Amino acid sequence: MATNPEIERRRTFAIVAHPDAGKTSLTEKFLLFGGQIQVAGAVKSNKIKKTATSDWMDIEKQRGISVTTSVMEFDYKDYKVNILDTPGHQDFAEDTYRTLTAVDSVIIVVDGAKGVETQTRKLMEVCRMRNTPVIIFVNKMDREAKGPFDLMDELEEELVIHVRPLTWPIESGPRFKGVYNLYEHNLNLFQPSKQVVTEKVEVDITTEELDNRIGHDLADKLRGELELIEGVYPEFNVDEYLQGEVAPVFFGSALNNFGVEELLNTFVEIAPSPRPVKAEERTVMPDEPKFTGFIFKITANIDPNHRSCIAFCKVCSGRFSRGVPYYHVRHDKTMRFSSPTQFMAQRKTTVDEAWAGDIIGLPDNGTFKIGDTLTEGEHLHFRGLPSFSPEMFKYIENADPMKQKQLAKGIDQLMDEGVAQLFINQFNGRKIIGTVGQLQFEVIQYRLEHEYNAKCRWEPVSLYKACWIESDDPAELEAFKKRKYQYMAKDREGRDVFLADSGYVLQMAQMDFKHIKFHFTSEF
Ligand code: G4P
Repeated sequence: MATNPEIERRRTFAIVAHPDAGKTSLTEKFLLFGGQIQVAGAVKSNKIKKTATSDWMDIEKQRGISVTTSVMEFDYKDYKVNILDTPGHQDFAEDTYRTLTAVDSVIIVVDGAKGVETQTRKLMEVCRMRNTPVIIFVNKMDREAKGPFDLMDELEEELVIHVRPLTWPIESGPRFKGVYNLYEHNLNLFQPSKQVVTEKVEVDITTEELDNRIGHDLADKLRGELELIEGVYPEFNVDEYLQGEVAPVFFGSALNNFGVEELLNTFVEIAPSPRPVKAEERTVMPDEPKFTGFIFKITANIDPNHRSCIAFCKVCSGRFSRGVPYYHVRHDKTMRFSSPTQFMAQRKTTVDEAWAGDIIGLPDNGTFKIGDTLTEGEHLHFRGLPSFSPEMFKYIENADPMKQKQLAKGIDQLMDEGVAQLFINQFNGRKIIGTVGQLQFEVIQYRLEHEYNAKCRWEPVSLYKACWIESDDPAELEAFKKRKYQYMAKDREGRDVFLADSGYVLQMAQMDFKHIKFHFTSEF
């Protein structure tokens, strides 16, 4: 796609999964192949766990969950791989969705025994919205797993995408023999080991050698299954993958470092280099000479002694250079960044330049908001990911009258970071915070106290959904707002939001007001 070799060789992606499916283990093995960590080994080892996850915030250390997003980059073969790590906890799903705006492709990890889980489904929805190319890794084949054909059907149905196996497992659990590579036509025999790279053999599956390797019965079964696969699934087509229409599927065991190298090799070969990015004004091509980029994530407290944040900027086009003045479109002013950083596992280094596809960390003390655009002077606005209607709501109240200002500032900045969503009820003027999980309320409270010296108190409000509303019929819109005045709010951009207190009420409203559109995401 890109003609500049520096950009062409970049692979910027995220590994996503339902918690516990094996995302951390897979990331760790990728880092191992990329030479970023030296020991192949137990995820249990704290040292490696720290390398493979981000634990910047105190709260996540205490709770042992990975809350924030980090970036890991390494060179592999001729490629430059940028892995965007995403929070392991589903209460931070919004954060993960946002990270997906900055990647060019995704690897989804699925637990072979559990199949598609809630979080996997949601993440796939976001990928589908953006036609993000997806590769699926079915993990934990060393444990008793569902049958591979059943798994393929489940993936196709639940994730609403065509699938095409590129490797095929021979049994699972204690009987797991390995995988057959349908792409390279060789057999990869499984040895349960974290350190040893497993044996790969070229076998002509029509000969007796296969029987000698895995036994007569399994050899026969495999031949039958391979025939079926060729009959059922069309030939793998890279273009269809790149358009987000078909997802190639690999089987393996991340913990045992089995099937991971095949996955990585195929990934770097077929995954897209930086893709064009849509801005409101036009589509930006990655190899345009001028730098453009947008902020997709702001993380506080990387250094706990210091309140400065880091804004993560995805370079969309051209080359970013240290110390060069760039245009901050929302503020309409020029800024210079003297210490942009890039990330190597847990190390952070200052960089002099970065190319389209890269993620750079920019020190930030309140100048950035999620979705902000940087350019060499052009008035561009990259479109961020829409906000989704939150699932939980609470009134936020000041618990320390002396700290009103601090509280307001804290809430403002945390919302800029995209920690949660703020709605102001137009009826009583009270502030309502909407999140996707209980934990976010705790994070907000904790951070207000530790970073802003402010105290908040939560009060219950019983709400079902927040819907952004619009209509071509201004009279009907006014009538609706009047009828529902107690439930009308504004989001931070001043858009009208209807706070429905039950599914029934929402349904009735949709029936009574046919010319009003109710949106469950903020971008429509
Ligand atoms: P996550 O980031 O998606 O949440 O998953 P993670 O890699 O932390 O893996 C979750 C659990 O599953 C871990 O066990 C891990 O060791 C195990 N696991 C990952 N891949 C495989 C695999 O291929 N086979 C098997 N049998 N297990 C696998 P844990 O006991 O919860 O954590 P830990 O104590 O090992 O860190």
